[in-house]
Amino acid sequence: MSIILAIESSCDETSAAVCADGVILSNVIANQTIHEAYGGVVPELASRVHQQNIVPAVQQALSGAKVNKNDVDAVAFTRGPGLLGSLLVGVSFAKAFALAKNIPLVEINHMQAHVLAHFIGDNKPSFPFLCLTVSGGHTQIVLVKDYFDMEVVGQTLDDAAGEAMDKTSKILGLPYPGGPLIDKYARLGNPDAYKFPEPQIPGFDFSFSGLKTAILYFIRDNVAKNPDFVHQNLNDICASVEKRIATILLNKLGKAALQLGIKDIALAGGVSANTGLRQGVQELCNLNGWNCFIPKLEYCTDNAAMIAIAGYYKFLKGEFAEQDVTPLARMPF
Ligand code: KG4
Ligand code: ZN
Repeated sequence: MSIILAIESSCDETSAAVCADGVILSNVIANQTIHEAYGGVVPELASRVHQQNIVPAVQQALSGAKVNKNDVDAVAFTRGPGLLGSLLVGVSFAKAFALAKNIPLVEINHMQAHVLAHFIGDNKPSFPFLCLTVSGGHTQIVLVKDYFDMEVVGQTLDDAAGEAMDKTSKILGLPYPGGPLIDKYARLGNPDAYKFPEPQIPGFDFSFSGLKTAILYFIRDNVAKNPDFVHQNLNDICASVEKRIATILLNKLGKAALQLGIKDIALAGGVSANTGLRQGVQELCNLNGWNCFIPKLEYCTDNAAMIAIAGYYKFLKGEFAEQDVTPLARMPF
């Protein structure tokens, strides 16, 4: 049996997980609420909180899995991409643990791990499949040919989809992270109340910066006429913004799947927790007769279970990192 301890600390979640032969035994996520007041993640604060959370998170993951630290066979960790100070905490912990126990280190690309979260559990997609990975920092359409053979066929040219959610919520005066709040209010609103523009970008790429500016001007102009505009129409605004972001994503995903002839379609990353997007991708797949793979909510936003499953497959390949490995803020596939 191979037991993997996994560490994730790329942004503002400190997470530790344990898996045995590819089965997740525990997945502990310590959220950082300190950033709420700042409208976004403050990197220096994030790394300090990671330092406080990492040891208790690992202890909890091991005890939750009923695994003794001496029985761990390898430590998988997120090497990048992410915030350098945050990554450094997880990478240093993983290196120290592996050195102390004389076990191998397995480095994982965070964006590949979001995709590989689909290999947790029994309902797994077949290669090749297409994955729309949408998070706070990335928006990618990924052609997944094998566990570690992935090609980005489309990506954002500016802001990520999650950033568009978070910046909209900031314009609306909501705290960070805004995505879950937009989701909550959107459920009560009319998605066709307001029409926001769809950018005309060639190929499978995306752009969200023009949409963000359009929302900013729309709110500014309406608040000038009625200071209570946001308060009175919050649900409709959120529903309309969510619908526009989801249609931008799904139109490109559908186009890519048709052109590439792919029939297994997956969703991944923090924004895949969004109710409207989850419904939309299911409808798109139903319409075209494609197989749809939507992760459980706990595996959408950042978590170490996805690092553990990716680590397990890399461990099987015998691909290990050196002890002098350093984090990478940018880490292409
Ligand atoms: O993957 P993730 O946890 O972290 C990164 O790797 O960036 O994604 C975080 C993003 C944030 O922008 C957050 O607002 C968004 O995912 N998000 C959501 C929802 N839950 C999280 N966006 C829309 N609806 C949600 N329910
Ligand atoms: Zn992520």
